[in-house]
Amino acid sequence: MRSQYCGLVDESLLGQEVTLCGWVNKRRDHGGVIFIDLRDREGLVQIVFDPDTPEIFRLAEQVRGEYVLQVDGLVRERPEGTLNAELRSGQVEVLAKQLHVLNAAETPPFQLDEDDVNEDSRLRYRYIDLRRPAMQERMRMRARVTGFMRRYLEELGFLDIETPMLTKATPEGARDYLVPSRTHPGNFFALPQSPQIFKQLLMMGGMDRYYQIVRCFRDEDLRADRQPEFTQLDIETSFMKEDQIMDVVEVMVRQMFLELLGETLPGTFPRMTYAEAMRRYGSDKPDLRIPLELVDVGELLKDVAFKVFSGPANAANGRVAALRLPEGASLSRKDIEAYTQFVGRYGAKGLAYIKVNDLSQGVAGLQSPILKFLPDTVALEIMQRVGAQNGDLVFFGADKTKIVNESLGALREQLGQDRGLLAPGWAPLWVVDFPMFEWDETDQRWQALHHPFTAPATDDPTTLDQHPGTVLSRAYDMVLNGTEIGGGSIRIHRPEMQQEVFRLLGISDEEAQQKFGFLVTALKYGCPPHGGIAFGLDRLVMLMTGSHSIRDVMAFPKTQTAHCPLTDAPAQVSERQLRELNIRVRLPAKD
Ligand code: AMO
Ligand code: AMP
Repeated sequence: MRSQYCGLVDESLLGQEVTLCGWVNKRRDHGGVIFIDLRDREGLVQIVFDPDTPEIFRLAEQVRGEYVLQVDGLVRERPEGTLNAELRSGQVEVLAKQLHVLNAAETPPFQLDEDDVNEDSRLRYRYIDLRRPAMQERMRMRARVTGFMRRYLEELGFLDIETPMLTKATPEGARDYLVPSRTHPGNFFALPQSPQIFKQLLMMGGMDRYYQIVRCFRDEDLRADRQPEFTQLDIETSFMKEDQIMDVVEVMVRQMFLELLGETLPGTFPRMTYAEAMRRYGSDKPDLRIPLELVDVGELLKDVAFKVFSGPANAANGRVAALRLPEGASLSRKDIEAYTQFVGRYGAKGLAYIKVNDLSQGVAGLQSPILKFLPDTVALEIMQRVGAQNGDLVFFGADKTKIVNESLGALREQLGQDRGLLAPGWAPLWVVDFPMFEWDETDQRWQALHHPFTAPATDDPTTLDQHPGTVLSRAYDMVLNGTEIGGGSIRIHRPEMQQEVFRLLGISDEEAQQKFGFLVTALKYGCPPHGGIAFGLDRLVMLMTGSHSIRDVMAFPKTQTAHCPLTDAPAQVSERQLRELNIRVRLPAKD
């Protein structure tokens, strides 16, 4: 139906007849001449309707925004003074010879060039939203990213193998989405939280190198970088150690940024241990573009009378850390109040601070409600420890280590944003040497930091059993600009170790047998050492396109409440369907 894309019409076609199809971006009537900007995937071209051809002129008069047209016309130069340097077609226009209205359109619920359309409306009319050049660009980048990944991995001998969507629970720490079985009354499939177990089984099946661009399902609290269904680039290999796996995917990411964005990432991504990341940044996915760091000051505060500080300073699981904000003395009382509320969301009970007015005056040059609780020498030692300069402000967090890390870690990122401290460019890193387990205070049990198939740094189940709190795992996360874009590990490949990990996680032998018996059995039949990684494709594309939410790089995402405004899913189903599935719905009583 067309000879070329609207957006690709340019000087090379001068004097030629073209046939174009597209949407009416805008119609302008100018003293007897009608201009229509016709838009398609590749961009815009200006069509001119001349009153000399009255029939099509009259038709053009009736055309409205988002009508779908087919136009035959002649490519000619634009008159002097009407050139548009921003369009590829900006030197030319098309004089219409024939016009077919392929379809009319109602007035769209929002203008395509409107900036602040509310997201619910965008999602409800996603097919219109997708016509916007920004969305087109993002979808295109996403396709280029997956295309690149496939080429890169296939070149290295990775096989694209599909794994089931109707399966059994795959523990990645979220709730499962369940699908009732009709043929097995009372039983349910779970949608995979990841293909983790299957990709391991593929290694046991001798596939050696696997990849898949695969949908994963997790029923968890949603945020800007989380969706209930999202896509992973999932990878698994046999007979490779962590360094080799990390190298293969690091090169992939580096080449991809160069080829698709023209951006050069550092030659080798820095590696940082989990312990260092938590100590310096309070986070296991630090944004290294922000030049602020947490500094431990607990040691200086063990003996002060101020219990807020001395308590955590003396507690085994406590931490007192300082965060110096250069030029932060300019923050108002109101700003500080707002940051105090901000850290409160992470469980911090307060946000002590010291303003540094003039260090040459000693303590007299400091300003803070907590100075009266601190000996002068301690206050000055802290200033020295954090490298304070005149005009700075130093924040303090004192609490359980977890709370201090989470609250000051988040404050660090917020200050980085608010104060414009982010260095330009890309800051990738690997975080390594994670602990195997984390003690869960609420449930009083060990939790796996990654999934329970991650290999510990020791090969000896007894060592693991004796030191569950200190044994590290062979896991690695790739972090980019403060977002965890990928995570993986070497896996357990011996049944005894796998059973030991289940045991430490408080999974009874019976439960382990029932849930993962097939995996443990498989480990007994010749399992190669293996490992892999999975990237969050949506997150990666979000970063690559400078988007603020992964919803912007998914064609049909869900809202924060896991609802699709377009289809109105999830929805009720008929009584009959429920009966077939032997399901009776019992809603919670309303009060
Ligand atoms: P993990 O759970 O770390 O590892 O997931 C891998 C990557 O997937 C992305 N991701 C998400 N993206 C969008 N929405 C979500 N709800 C979401 N959850 C995770 C993140 C994350 O780094 N099986 C292991 C991988 C392995 O060990 O090989 C796994 O799934 O970018
Ligand atoms: P208070 O004695 O509770 O009035 O606190 C004095 C100062 O310490 C205030 O600025 C509080 O915001 C701050 N503060 C209180 N608890 C903490 C805490 N756990 N960590 C950091 N600062 C705190």
